Amino acid sequence: MADRMLPLFADLRLDSSSPRRNYSPVSKERLPTNTTTYRHPVHRWFNFIAGFSPEFMQICLDQLDGKLPRVLLDPFAGCATALVSACQYGLEAVGCEPHPILTKIGRAKLPGPDTAKRLWQIEVAIAAGLDRPQSLELLSKSPQKFLSSLFSRPILESLLGARESLRQRDLFDNDLAFLVLSKVVDKSSHSQTDGIYKAPASRKVAIDPLKALRQIVTAIREDLDEVRGIPFDKLARIIEKSSERIPEVADGSVGIVVTSPPYLNNFDFAEMTRMFLYFWGIANSWGEITDKVRAKLVVNTTTALKGHKEKQDQYRIEIPSRVQEHLSDLVSQLAVQRRIRAGKKEYDFLVYPYFAQITAVLRECYRCMANGAAFHMMVADAALYGIHISAPQFIRDILEEIGFRNVTCSLVRTRGYRWILEKRDGSKQGLGEYHIAAIK
Ligand SMILES: C[S@@+](CC[C@H](N)C(=O)[O-])C[C@H]1O[C@@H](n2cnc3c(N)ncnc32)[C@H](O)[C@@H]1O
Repeated sequence: MADRMLPLFADLRLDSSSPRRNYSPVSKERLPTNTTTYRHPVHRWFNFIAGFSPEFMQICLDQLDGKLPRVLLDPFAGCATALVSACQYGLEAVGCEPHPILTKIGRAKLPGPDTAKRLWQIEVAIAAGLDRPQSLELLSKSPQKFLSSLFSRPILESLLGARESLRQRDLFDNDLAFLVLSKVVDKSSHSQTDGIYKAPASRKVAIDPLKALRQIVTAIREDLDEVRGIPFDKLARIIEKSSERIPEVADGSVGIVVTSPPYLNNFDFAEMTRMFLYFWGIANSWGEITDKVRAKLVVNTTTALKGHKEKQDQYRIEIPSRVQEHLSDLVSQLAVQRRIRAGKKEYDFLVYPYFAQITAVLRECYRCMANGAAFHMMVADAALYGIHISAPQFIRDILEEIGFRNVTCSLVRTRGYRWILEKRDGSKQGLGEYHIAAIK
């Protein structure tokens, strides 16, 4: 295990007055994961299964050259891990995130001077609402059916009471209130609700909502005390839109990019938040989830193909020609598999939109970065019907075509058994997560 430790961490000895944290050593395998989040203030407010670790951020931020703009960009901000870390380093930060749930959670993790007072109001409002259950009739048909499979009826009625209480006290649109009640919802479900959507089949212990509320509020209060003096709300902002085009960020204004895009054929970020989308009334059916959420995100799963299958040629020519050639061969192989496999999965339609959208985001990063600025990305490869798609290598090639220099791509960890698709799809290739680094 010792040789897997990054020496960087073991050697870190930071001045105690620094806003940076003296993190404990962590194994390399955990860098791309959310498994250390629980031990970091603010980060732990929402443990996002697709998030990377604050320790990965630390490695990247320690390399920031003092001569560059002190601004970080994360074009795939998720739950704002990169932004929170940047603020703790005293940097400014900007992130893009078109997913309405993740944007609100990310913004809630950028507290300001009034946050402690607001937290108290939120706690009072939610506690009062939990005591005033509301009818399930508040929910439309699909949400009612789905949420009833995740909670006992009395619990769901209490949670709706809390939601309505926030509405009555003008806290319904408050990002921190959204985060706190979403966490209560999550903890009081008897189903596993994160990640590749296992609910309602996979069970877990449900925590009483009032107890969950106290736990969450206590943790946030402790952390606000610990990070007092860091003006997260002044330093960082999240733009709620796709990062394929971000004129809001000026040319050459960014000193460092740290990011992790949706992985090909991995999480459907709309599906994985179905419980929250339904609970908050943001979407009320599968169709609305597609139109209001999936349609805004990078196309990375076959569930997201609506409106994209027809535009394959357009997407293909948006990809640098060197990569296009390799991809067209893979697309042909996938089309053959679609015809002969029972599942008829349309993986062949995923490849061009995915790499075209990633190309657009990388071009925007390049434009926003100052000369000499560093780029870091954590990304995985995929096997579709057993055909290996080396996304990290294609992204490396795309970066070079755009003009980045010193582009490297190193394996950080191999992913667990469930990602090794030999049994399921005939692939001999184990899948991994890779750190791509480059300089503008
Ligand atoms: C791997 S996650 C990033 C997680 C993040 N590093 C964290 O620690 O929370 C990828 C994120 O990209 C977002 N995303 C998808 N399409 C996007 C787009 N076109 N523009 C910006 N973000 C997008 C997804 O909603 C998801 O939150």
